[in-house]
Amino acid sequence: MQGKENYKKEIYEFLASRDCISTYEHCIEVGDYAAILANDFGFNEEKALIAGYFHDISAIYPVEERIHAAEEFKINLLPEEKIFPLIIHQKISAYLANNYFFVIDDEILSAIECHTTLKGGYSETDLLVFVADKIKWDQRGIPPYLDKMLERLEESLEDAALYYIQYIMNNDIKILHPWLLKAKSSLEENISLRKIHRKRGILNNGI
Ligand SMILES: [Fe+2]
Ligand SMILES: [Fe+2]
Repeated sequence: MQGKENYKKEIYEFLASRDCISTYEHCIEVGDYAAILANDFGFNEEKALIAGYFHDISAIYPVEERIHAAEEFKINLLPEEKIFPLIIHQKISAYLANNYFFVIDDEILSAIECHTTLKGGYSETDLLVFVADKIKWDQRGIPPYLDKMLERLEESLEDAALYYIQYIMNNDIKILHPWLLKAKSSLEENISLRKIHRKRGILNNGI
């Protein structure tokens, strides 16, 4: 893929110089996996890869500096983000990708901006990066939801994403971000529409 190595190099220099090597490794892992998923499901590999590569570059700002950084960059913050600033990193990453690395594709920027929460009316790239980031998480050990999420992934990306959201809502969610709630509704709606279409297809083929 054209430009892939350049992006890797630029992101490496940006993160390594700020002591964020583990974030670099996580970003590359998520981008590469998002591209594999895009290929598996027939979506745009390049957009998924680039969005994944940039998704956590805001790790250069520690949590306690994120409200200040967002204000400096004129990023609009929701009340939930002020209460739980960790989540602001998705918006700051999109800002940095756009303003420091000149990523201008709206679909890529959107996928970076909602990679933690997803959002209502998500795009395919939003969904790919969200799912890839949860499967290739940035913490030690194996994610507790991994087996079931991979099982749902065999059905669809949406089933996998919805399973993850249900899991965190039943377990360790720190704050109910409005984008996450809207994403959940969109996922439920799209999954049930797909089931109706599938059922109709079976019925029509049976006639
Ligand atoms: Fe993140
Ligand atoms: Fe991440």
